[in-house]
Amino acid sequence: MDGQDWILMLPGPTDVPEAAYRAMTSRMINHRDEGFRQVHREVLDGIRKVIGAESGDVFVLTCSSTGGIEAAVANLLDRNDRVISFVNGLFAERMTEAARYYSDKVEVIELPLGTAPTLEQVKREVEGKGADAVLLVHNETSTGAYCSDVPAIAEYCRRNGIALIVDGVTSIGGYPMGLSRWGVTCFVGGTQKCLAAPPGLAVLYISEEGWERVVRKQRRPHYFDLVTHREFMKRWETPFTPAVSLFFALRASLQHILEVVGLERWFRNHAAGAGAFYEALERMGIEVFPAPEFRSRTLIAGRLPAGIEDAKLTRTMKERYGVHIAGGMGKTKGKIFRIGNMGMVSPERVTRTLEALKGSLNELGFRTADSVDVRSVVERHFGR
Ligand SMILES: Cc1ncc(COP(=O)(O)O)c(C=O)c1O
Repeated sequence: MDGQDWILMLPGPTDVPEAAYRAMTSRMINHRDEGFRQVHREVLDGIRKVIGAESGDVFVLTCSSTGGIEAAVANLLDRNDRVISFVNGLFAERMTEAARYYSDKVEVIELPLGTAPTLEQVKREVEGKGADAVLLVHNETSTGAYCSDVPAIAEYCRRNGIALIVDGVTSIGGYPMGLSRWGVTCFVGGTQKCLAAPPGLAVLYISEEGWERVVRKQRRPHYFDLVTHREFMKRWETPFTPAVSLFFALRASLQHILEVVGLERWFRNHAAGAGAFYEALERMGIEVFPAPEFRSRTLIAGRLPAGIEDAKLTRTMKERYGVHIAGGMGKTKGKIFRIGNMGMVSPERVTRTLEALKGSLNELGFRTADSVDVRSVVERHFGR
């Protein structure tokens, strides 16, 4: 497909509102001036609303989300901290790897792919082994499994003086959250996913209890020293040069979410899109990868039907229909395809993706049920 007529239905980066593109071409400003301080303040206020952070601190770091994860573990974990990491996919593996740079006592609890940790599992492991910190991924993007027990796990960890560090890279903006109320110690979010902003920045939330750990730490990192970041934050600055154009864009995306669409509706769109995807996939005869209780609303993972290769499917969807989706990754490579239901979710985009999927599978030799009227499934979920 030629020209610009494509849609990104990837697990990031996702399409961004027009205003965010325009914002990136704004004239450069001094990052030590009132102009940047104002942008920074607005960005942080917007993020606080999206993640429900009435207390604690929020940072927007100039790095990809992996940098945010590194900042979290580097500031919160000490060599002797007993860390339990729940691993249910590639991103949980990566967070575990990052934690091993800072703690010598990282214990991995392997979970079946397509599932997510539950409160019962966390309690069992913590009570059996003892822990200073628990790590988990809110929305495991490599499998499409969502951890709905985060509020209960956070409450349990807080009551027991355990730090809970959450990779929320693909849950931020897709799900309503109350991080301060829940008691999450540290949470890392991505901007290029459900916040519909460009890649290159990471969100980091840290609770008041989290700070007690940070300041106690003997050695903190240099670029990501959160104590230094907090000092600069007092005057709405960052210690080092921030990606100013990306801050402009993130501010525009947050304005789009909060003022143009409205936060409640933004979340509802993600829920409606997911409902439509899951119903349509099942009616087409495609098996959804995670069991219903773990299904993510932001990452839709379907098993590849027998005889369909992921590279051929993603290429056909891109070249014939202009719809970009992804294959599996890590242990799910060659087993599943992944659709990002993130950011600018709309009935039109969901319909176009499902029609492209149906058409591509048929072209590649898999017969989907002809009776699936994609448009009416989508419209019903969006309440039209
Ligand atoms: C759950 C999760 N964690 C971490 C990352 C890493 O993000 P980045 O590539 O922005 O560093 C991703 C990226 O897709 C992700 O989905």
